[in-house]
Amino acid sequence: MKTLIVYSSLTGNTKKVAEAVQEVFGEAAELFPVEEKPPADGYDLVAVGFWVDRGTADKKAQDYITGLRNKKVALFATLGAYPDSEHAQKSMANAVALIDDSNQFIGSFICQGKVDPKLVEQFKNLPAGHPHAMNPERAARHQEAAKHPDESDLANAKTIFAEFRQKLHAGGL
Ligand SMILES: Cc1cc2nc3c(=O)[nH]c(=O)nc-3n(C[C@H](O)[C@H](O)[C@H](O)COP(=O)(O)O)c2cc1C
Repeated sequence: MKTLIVYSSLTGNTKKVAEAVQEVFGEAAELFPVEEKPPADGYDLVAVGFWVDRGTADKKAQDYITGLRNKKVALFATLGAYPDSEHAQKSMANAVALIDDSNQFIGSFICQGKVDPKLVEQFKNLPAGHPHAMNPERAARHQEAAKHPDESDLANAKTIFAEFRQKLHAGGL
């Protein structure tokens, strides 16, 4: 089963997850940054990784996802919010909604990824009351995000994708 892994990553978080996913498939998988726009012809499974940008996949990943036809598609992502938050769920759902109906959606993985320190600084300068203004809850979330993706996230990504691979081999997907 030939697998194509395409990732969009500004600061390296999503790239780390992409590399973990590649380890699951070994030589049967090829990995490309989204900027290379690799053609998906000839691949059975296409895994696309994105960073969450304002509640959905970043623009480059969006463009790649919407162009896919007649593939088995899996998504993975990193974001600043907690992975079990409603925001994380909605962000992934928004990305899944971009997949054309000719494809078969296999499943997804999402974990936290450190937020660009420059962005965190900008948040600190916002006036109180602004929706993104810094507060103790947000500061704690950024501190936690700064530790991710960690070894446990990468192991979880591998477990999920190993399950996808297993099911695809068994013809269950
Ligand atoms: C412009 C911008 C917008 C972002 N929007 C969100 C968002 O809506 N929700 C969220 O949880 N994280 C958001 N983030 C945080 C990133 O999704 C997160 O840090 C991600 O892990 C970055 O991945 P990368 O290192 O692969 O670029 C945003 C970051 C940037 C720079």
